[in-house]
Amino acid sequence: MLSRFKISQSSSFQTLCKQVRDFQKEGLKHQFELDPNRTSRFSLEFQSFYFDYSKHYVSDEILASLEKIANEAKMGEAIEEMFAGKAINETENRSVFHVALRNTSGSPMKMDGVDVMPLVTKEWKHMEDFVEKVHNGSFQGYTGKPIKQVINIGIGGSDLGPVMVTEGLVPFHCGPKIRYVSNVDGAHLQQTLDEVDIEETLFVIVSKTFTTQETMTNALEAKRVLVEKLGEDAVANHFVAVSTNTQAVVDFGIHQENIFTFWDWVGGRYSLWSSVGLSIALAVGWKNFYELLKGAHEMDKHFRTAPVKQNIPLLQALIGIIYNNVLDFQSYAILPYAQNLHRLPAYLQQADMESSGKSIGRDGKRVEHQTGPVIWGEAGTNGQHAFYQFLHQGTKIIPADIIAVRHPEHNLLDHHRKLLANAIAQAEALMNGKSGEEVASEFRLAAPPEEIINPLIAHKSFEGNRPTGFLLFDQLNPRNLGMLIAMYEDKIFAQGILWNVFSFDQWGVELGKQMAKTILNEIEGGKKENHDSSTAELVRRCKS
Ligand code: F6P
Repeated sequence: MLSRFKISQSSSFQTLCKQVRDFQKEGLKHQFELDPNRTSRFSLEFQSFYFDYSKHYVSDEILASLEKIANEAKMGEAIEEMFAGKAINETENRSVFHVALRNTSGSPMKMDGVDVMPLVTKEWKHMEDFVEKVHNGSFQGYTGKPIKQVINIGIGGSDLGPVMVTEGLVPFHCGPKIRYVSNVDGAHLQQTLDEVDIEETLFVIVSKTFTTQETMTNALEAKRVLVEKLGEDAVANHFVAVSTNTQAVVDFGIHQENIFTFWDWVGGRYSLWSSVGLSIALAVGWKNFYELLKGAHEMDKHFRTAPVKQNIPLLQALIGIIYNNVLDFQSYAILPYAQNLHRLPAYLQQADMESSGKSIGRDGKRVEHQTGPVIWGEAGTNGQHAFYQFLHQGTKIIPADIIAVRHPEHNLLDHHRKLLANAIAQAEALMNGKSGEEVASEFRLAAPPEEIINPLIAHKSFEGNRPTGFLLFDQLNPRNLGMLIAMYEDKIFAQGILWNVFSFDQWGVELGKQMAKTILNEIEGGKKENHDSSTAELVRRCKS
């Protein structure tokens, strides 16, 4: 059982608060002036990753307090409970064992004394064989055409991870073109169907439960369109499913051999490593998919074994305590300077906010501290032309991860140098800011009259002292992407331990789903329910 931990009652937390406030007052820039070696002390290298956290509010004293907090929260024991397959998702009485899905070590991973790896490797083989058949053309459409298009139908964890990775690995694509349909807005499915020749299209229906309204509505419509054109017998050539609910898939009409499975110990938002990643594997081939798993496994090993101060996911988690709990900064930005990672912020919104957006602690009581921040972001440099004004001069301080790749997968090196220059410059600018004196002396070079200079100085100044972490890795390839995603998953796990929440349930999504069913019934002419006047009027206006 995970320990119950109240961060606000920890004596180390009180010490941390004072240390962080003093640090903030002195300012980041000052820390660099005091210690020219600051970066070598607050940066880490792990395989091809370079993590520079020297522009975060950290000092030796702050790290020592954070380490004490991690120990008080029994972090080491919690990590071991996850890797031992314990039922740490207590509100659903389930293990949290996605780490087994990427255990490429060949060693067993036991849950209740039973090794799950035979199940996992069997499903790997199933996926590998299927990908091979689609790629070599032996799995064909009903009319004998090769599969050139895949439409993945799923939502939330059955969509965001697969889309993000598929986009992240575009240079590695070697199979059919993958499209993703998630929204129950008919425009999403309709527009996607309009783009494909259904005779050469494979639908991959991904749903852990196989009951999700959006996914089932889209899947049923896709099937109707296919059957109308090619007949019921064509379903076997055009539909496969990924689910833990095999019976529901069979009832839907998908053939047994076309069902890929995973298990209830895999949370939806942690499932891209399972057969939920089938569309990724179809896009990049099995070998590349396996590399993704290997990279994630490397990061898991690091998370499990590295001491706190050398542990990238754990440091990331602990740094979050500084901003979220001591300084009450409310949000955290993800800024990938890699166009192919443009869906990373959206993916992390679910991974992080569905995991840490809780207000009830593991003791069943309302927590007395802040839990997860708002996660948001955009690919650099697009974000710079949208919200960086706010990051630099807004009243809110938004700590951020800046993510960059040293060597691109394309030959436009001039572009890449500019991209990297922007990433590095933003981190420096956010930290240093620009004082009034600097603004004034720059201004005076152009020699305008003083009455023009003076009123503008404040507007053109930057307070700075805005923290960022910088993650640089050599290439955006499957292995490194696997490491990056696992780093965030492991960080989210560690933050859940510190915030005393159950990170692997998502009860907060149920109420809206339930009420949408009632309202749908009313919109379709069913029994009128009691609502507030606003809801009642909206229902009246939307009735079919
Ligand atoms: O949004 C809630 C949620 O339960 C997510 O956790 C999950 O990833 C998503 O719905 C999709 O669920 P399923 O895979 O069962 O269709």
